[in-house]
Order: sequence, then C-alpha cells, then structure tokens
Amino acid sequence: MSTFYKDHWVDIEPDRMARYEAMFQWRDGQAPLLAPAQIEAGQRVVDYGCGPGGLAIELARRVGDGGKVFAVDINADFLAIVEQRAAEAGVAERIEVVQGDGLTIPLPAACADRVVCKNVLEYVPDPEGIVAEFFRIGSPDGIVHVSDSDWGAFLVSPEEDHAEMMAAAGVAFKTPHIGRRLYGMFADAGFEPIETRLVAIPDTVGGMRSVIQNMTTYAATAGFDEDRLQAFRDRIDAAIEAKRYFAVLPQFLVTGHVPNA
Ligand SMILES: C[S@@+](CC[C@H](N)C(=O)[O-])C[C@H]1O[C@@H](n2cnc3c(N)ncnc32)[C@H](O)[C@@H]1O
Repeated sequence: MSTFYKDHWVDIEPDRMARYEAMFQWRDGQAPLLAPAQIEAGQRVVDYGCGPGGLAIELARRVGDGGKVFAVDINADFLAIVEQRAAEAGVAERIEVVQGDGLTIPLPAACADRVVCKNVLEYVPDPEGIVAEFFRIGSPDGIVHVSDSDWGAFLVSPEEDHAEMMAAAGVAFKTPHIGRRLYGMFADAGFEPIETRLVAIPDTVGGMRSVIQNMTTYAATAGFDEDRLQAFRDRIDAAIEAKRYFAVLPQFLVTGHVPNA
C-alpha cells in the first residue's frame, strides 16, 4: 500500500517547501478557526503538526511569558524553521519544538491545558490513535481543538476535471474525508462534551490557488495526465482573471473537553 500520504511530509522538495512556508502563515482572518480553543495567558498548549510555525507563534504570543507552546511535527526542517521564526518574533523562550514519529506524541500524560491541531489529521497513519493521544496528554478540564478539511466538500468552479483530479490527488491523504469523521473519533476517545462547528469562507479571488496547485502536484504523482492538469490550472487562472472563479473548502471544527474525573 502506498505511504505517499506520509512520505510527502518527510521529503519536501524546495519549491513545495517554499509554497508551504508562504501558505502556512497565521492570518487574523483565521481567528474563528482557533476561537473555540479558548487560548489564554499562562496555558501550556500543544500545536500538533505545527508545520513552519505560523499558528505556533500566534499561540506563543497569546500564552504570554508564563505560558508554553510545544510545537510538534514529524518534519525536522519545519521544526528548524519554527525555531528560527520564534527567535525572530521574540518568543523563542515560550516555544519548545518536539519531533514526533507520527503515531505517538512524546509528551507526558495530562501535560497540556490545550491541544490544537489544524489541517493535519487527514495525513496521519492512525487518526483514531492520535485523537486518543490528544486525550491522554490533555489535562483534566482541558480542551482539545481540531480543525480540518473534508476533501469531499472541496468545491471549485470551473469544475471540469476537478472531481477526477481530486480522486487522483487522494493518494496524498490517509483519510481524505476526515472532517465528517472527527466527531465520532472524539466521542470514541472519551471527550465530553464535544462541540462541532463549520467555517466556510468562499474564495473568489484566487486565495486558494496554491491549494489547487498542490492538489494537481499530488494528482501528477498518482499518474494523472500532465496536459490535463495544465489545462485544468489554465482554466482556473482564466476564471480568476475573468472574475468567474469560485472555490470553497469548509473547515470542520471539533472541540472536545477532557473530563475532570
Ligand atoms: C497541511 S500542514 C498544516 C501545518 C499547520 N498545522 C498549519 O495549519 O499551518 C500539515 C502538517 O502536518 C505534519 N504532519 C503530517 N503527518 C503528521 C503526523 N503523522 N504527525 C504529526 N505531524 C504530521 C506535516 O509535516 C505538516 O507540517
């Protein structure tokens, strides 16, 4: 069975890394994605699958001098970028990077007031196992907050070849329909109560063009015809130019409370 869904986060070629560094920035417009986590000064927060650290640095700002952020990822290059960016942002003291193996989290039980995880669980080999790990490291009364896509809900116009291209790009995900499954996974892990929300922000100006680019790259890996992919990208670009493009990738937010018992 292909393990591309995991491997493509371990070996990242330079142009994709440059795209990720630009994409995975924290923007104030993303605040609704984080709000249910109720991040406050003084907390110990785990950011699971931190990438180049946009969210981790925002968390470090929010927890202040008395707080701590554990930025966890499987990719050592991302963690080096997090350390560099944290130093540049003046929050290096508040961030500790942790390299994980993707299956377990090398942190002690009940160590985190908050666990946040954004756009990661679709890639992990065993999402139920990682949600159980979140439950283990969450402190009593703590909050675990996941936001993720569901690639079955990714809509694009113009849509010619979109569905076929996304079917091929599915090789990049272990669980492409993770969004709809998170609630059940949280229930199985023992969180109580669990809140769910949907955040859907339509893109009409090409803000998601780099996401589309990545999907075509994944589809190419799966053998999708390169000329059809180029024609697909050209139609998207023409539609953006003509102000006829539309895309939406809803984010599924699930917030679980760790029981105090
Ligand atoms: C789409 S990026 C999201 C980065 C960041 N959370 C954000 O939203 O800006 C996915 C991240 O998950 C990491 N990742 C992939 N599989 C993982 C696993 N099994 N355990 C931990 N991190 C993983 C990747 O290395 C990458 O940094």
